[in-house]
Amino acid sequence: MTRALLIGNGAREHAIAASLVRSGVTIHSHMQMSNPGIASISEQVTIGEITNPADLPDLHNFDYAIIGPEAPLASGVSDFIEKKGIPVVAPLMSLARVETSKAYAREILARAAPNANPLYAIIDSVDELNRFVSDVGIDRIVVKPDGLTGGKGVKIFGEHLHSKSEVEDYIKKLLKTHESVILEEKLIGTEFTLQSFVDGSHIELLPLVRDYKRAYDNDEGPNTGSMGSYSRETHDLGYLSETDVTHARKIMQSVIDRLGQENGTNYKGVLYGQFIKTDDGIKVIEFNARFGDPEAMNVLSIMTTSFDEVCQQIIDGNLKRVEFERKATVCVYVVPEGYPGPDTIRDSPITIEDAMNSRVYFASVYESNGQIFTTGSRAIAVLGMGDTVKDARANAYSDVSRIHGRVRFRSDIAAGVY
Ligand code: AMP
Ligand code: GLY
Repeated sequence: MTRALLIGNGAREHAIAASLVRSGVTIHSHMQMSNPGIASISEQVTIGEITNPADLPDLHNFDYAIIGPEAPLASGVSDFIEKKGIPVVAPLMSLARVETSKAYAREILARAAPNANPLYAIIDSVDELNRFVSDVGIDRIVVKPDGLTGGKGVKIFGEHLHSKSEVEDYIKKLLKTHESVILEEKLIGTEFTLQSFVDGSHIELLPLVRDYKRAYDNDEGPNTGSMGSYSRETHDLGYLSETDVTHARKIMQSVIDRLGQENGTNYKGVLYGQFIKTDDGIKVIEFNARFGDPEAMNVLSIMTTSFDEVCQQIIDGNLKRVEFERKATVCVYVVPEGYPGPDTIRDSPITIEDAMNSRVYFASVYESNGQIFTTGSRAIAVLGMGDTVKDARANAYSDVSRIHGRVRFRSDIAAGVY
């Protein structure tokens, strides 16, 4: 029987754990904080700093390791495990820069598929703002720190920044803690997520997913880690043509090829592309070197190919076709009141009645004396499945209302989608 080490403790890792267990794998979960959902299906659990290789459990009896979140990739945990001779279903640190450095991501894309980039500039002084503004106009500026921000560091003119002096102040603030800042042209269009398994050279696409990043209904408010997502039973999205998807696939393939050439080692694991369909074609918003959270839940919940086999094939470099049920999925995140603001309600008890129509994945919650408590992050992901998006949505929302406490959720995930 396969024994795998799983690193991470969010709802994405709960979905990874459940999928591995369904394929017959015995898992040891290494977590920053015990996720009660993951712990309940793990053979063993260790708690430690997930970005610190010294905290890892003894590695010798694992067939492979799989890493869910980006932070351990950024700190070289995959490199450490591979050096010990254990294969890892995740890219090495140099390759994960496609996510961990937004500047590197723009630069590699400029070499691999330049038309997929917006206009951008990587700056290390606020004085460089003027030149970029004269190219794109202040009202079309997006400002991002170069580094990991959990999706929350991006500010867009007209939404989060309202004047040139606010843009300047934000750049100055970021430069205190980050080496550089990325300025981008604001892209206008409809976003989509395309994830793929990668075995070093070959990529295998997963069903397309639409993610909802904004905190409130109608896509208002600040960016969050994401408030929900959906995928269709046809595995496509109504607003994308086959040509759009082929184009996005080609962009991902060229980036994988280029990453391998430039880093002298091949990319293995999951590549996540967040794209936007604009009047000027398909553009890249960002790449992640891992599954999306919540997008992992949409795709893994309907994957019929054994996840264990997929992991072995990624490691061996002989990835085969991956199959999915013809089911739609809708994921709704239940978050603490106030999330993602400074007044987020923490350490508040929540009660979860047994799910009737969906799968419930635990995110950032902990258990104390049999009671589940929130932290300052997203608490519970509810994943509904169905023959259509409408059915999947009804299934998800019927169980969302069975979660009680000082929590809230978006009520418009996949609204009006068929
Ligand atoms: P990121 O962390 O780069 O994924 O950005 C978070 C969110 O900000 C994305 O999901 C987009 O909605 C938005 N965003 C980022 N970059 C741009 C851009 N160049 N144009 C328009 N929106 C953007
Ligand atoms: N759903 C966006 C992310 O995982 O980064």
